[in-house]
Amino acid sequence: MPDLFDIDDFTPHDYARVVELALADPVTRVLEGQGVALLFEKPSARTRNSSEMAAFALGAHPVYIQGTEVGLDTRESVEDIARTLGCYHRIVCARVFDHDVLARMAFALEASEFDVPVINLLSDRAHPCQAVADMLTLREIMGDLAGEVLAYIGDANNMCRSLAKAAMMEGMHFRVASPAGYSFSAEDLASLHALSAAYGRGGTVNCTTDPIEAAGGADALYTDVWTSMGQEEEKAERLAAFAGFTVDDALLDVAEPGVLVLHCLPAHRGEEIAASVLEGSHSVVWKQAAHRQTAMRGILAWSVEEDRP
Ligand code: CP
Ligand code: NVA
Repeated sequence: MPDLFDIDDFTPHDYARVVELALADPVTRVLEGQGVALLFEKPSARTRNSSEMAAFALGAHPVYIQGTEVGLDTRESVEDIARTLGCYHRIVCARVFDHDVLARMAFALEASEFDVPVINLLSDRAHPCQAVADMLTLREIMGDLAGEVLAYIGDANNMCRSLAKAAMMEGMHFRVASPAGYSFSAEDLASLHALSAAYGRGGTVNCTTDPIEAAGGADALYTDVWTSMGQEEEKAERLAAFAGFTVDDALLDVAEPGVLVLHCLPAHRGEEIAASVLEGSHSVVWKQAAHRQTAMRGILAWSVEEDRP
């Protein structure tokens, strides 16, 4: 089954097809009468609502399940939960703490009578559905993204990793400015270089510890929280480490005059982004949030397509 753990699971054909299905009008009800499981180990506003509404638009019945309710590896094993959900649902979507749980679910489903796709709704390593929505947002405004400069200021986290991969697939120049110790690993960089080569669109990635250097001449600026879900005990340490990495008016001043400002949300005004920037004329954060639903329609519809090259 075509599982989606991170955005680089898409071949170039898959990615093009997801975008095509996301923007399809009218929407084809390819999931008529079927179930879509939405399992959340962490809180969510956008992902839950956009996924429910996307499933509904495709004709499905979405079922929201809290992690505590099914007890992953406490009430029963992850594998047994996955196989149970596979009995009732055409797609299993999950937001998990540990990325490896997604592979365990997919492995258990593959070995079962009900081999259904597993879609990552955010893990500690990746947030592919958000990255698709972000690319739809940028494409809607900028058109072809090849050669555009996307600067990410902050923690090279799950969001940043999926976004950087999406940028490589689009042929963008991705810059990331993070404090020492919070940037991409050598392994992350190697996989980004390999992805750029595979897509052949000229995508590049550069890391710095200087937000001004990253933002200089950028066409788009992106940030995310400094403390992700699951890292709450590191909050004080992170607040200190990220001082000076706020996306504020001084950073906008060195970017392109028409720079777009993106944030996956939830936002912490005064920490990773100034309120004036989040609410200002460069901000496209609500278009991003809206595209979560568009993106999810594409991802869900793609995951159940029978014919794929
Ligand atoms: N951007 C995002 O994933 O938001 P939620 O955590 O509210 O789903
Ligand atoms: N990096 C954030 C993204 C939230 C949508 C987190 O994992 O909490």
